[in-house]
Amino acid sequence: MKVDVLALFPEIIAPALQTGILKRIQDAGGLIVNVYNLRDWATDKHKSVDDYPYGGGAGMILKPEPLFSAVSSLNTSSDANVVFLTPQGTPLTQPLVEAMSLEAHLILICGRYKGIDERVRQQIVTTEISIGDYVLSGGEIAALVLIDAIGRVLPGALGDFESAHEDSFSQDLLDHPHYTRPAEYEGIEVPEVLLSGHHENIKKWRHGEALKRTAQHRPDLLQNLELSDDELDILKTLKNSS
Ligand code: ADE
Repeated sequence: MKVDVLALFPEIIAPALQTGILKRIQDAGGLIVNVYNLRDWATDKHKSVDDYPYGGGAGMILKPEPLFSAVSSLNTSSDANVVFLTPQGTPLTQPLVEAMSLEAHLILICGRYKGIDERVRQQIVTTEISIGDYVLSGGEIAALVLIDAIGRVLPGALGDFESAHEDSFSQDLLDHPHYTRPAEYEGIEVPEVLLSGHHENIKKWRHGEALKRTAQHRPDLLQNLELSDDELDILKTLKNSS
C-alpha cells in the first residue's frame, strides 16, 4: 500500500512514522508513506497556499491550484482514493479502517486554517474522514491517526497477525481486561480463571468481561448486535448488581 500525504506541516507526521509498528511495516515493504509539503506546489513567489474567503468572514482558505496540481502529479494512474481529513467527514471506525487497508493508493489531504476551496472537495476528493467530533488545528494529526490505524492491520504489521483481529472493536465489543505478572499486586489478585490454564473458560470469561465493559462504557455499540441467551443473562446479572 502507498500513502501520499499532502500537508503544510509535514514535520508533525514524519517522526511518528519512524517508530514502532509503523516503522516495521514500512521496513518490511508492506507500506510506503511519502509526506509532501503542499507549498512545493505553490506557484507564486511567496509560495502562498491560502487566501481570503469570498464573501468575507474570519479565517483563510486553502487555494485550489496547489491542491489540484499536487494531486494530479501524485495520482498518475488516477486510481488513488483521495481522502480529505475533516470534522465534516465520515466518522472513522475499525470497519472503515479495515476496508481502507485493502486499498492500493491513498492520497491524504490535510487541511489547515478555515478550510479548503469547495472545488477541491467536489472535483478531486473521493472520501472525507473525521477522526471525532472535535476540531483539530489541522488535518496532520488526523492523517497520522488514519495511517497508524491502517498500518497496524496490514498483513505482517503485528508479530501475531491474529491479535489485530482480537482487540477492541474488531468483534464489535470493547476489549476485555488484561493482566500480567505478578499474580498479586498490593493485595489485588489476578482473576483465578486466568491462572487456571483452562482455555475454554478463559475465552468465556474474557467475552463476558468485554460484554460488560461495552454495556457500561458504550451501550450504543450493543444496539446493533444480536445477543445470545447467555450474553443476555450476563447483561441481566450486571444490571441487577448495579
Ligand atoms: N481536521 C480538523 N479536525 C479534524 C477531525 N476531527 N477529523 C479529521 N480531520 C480534522
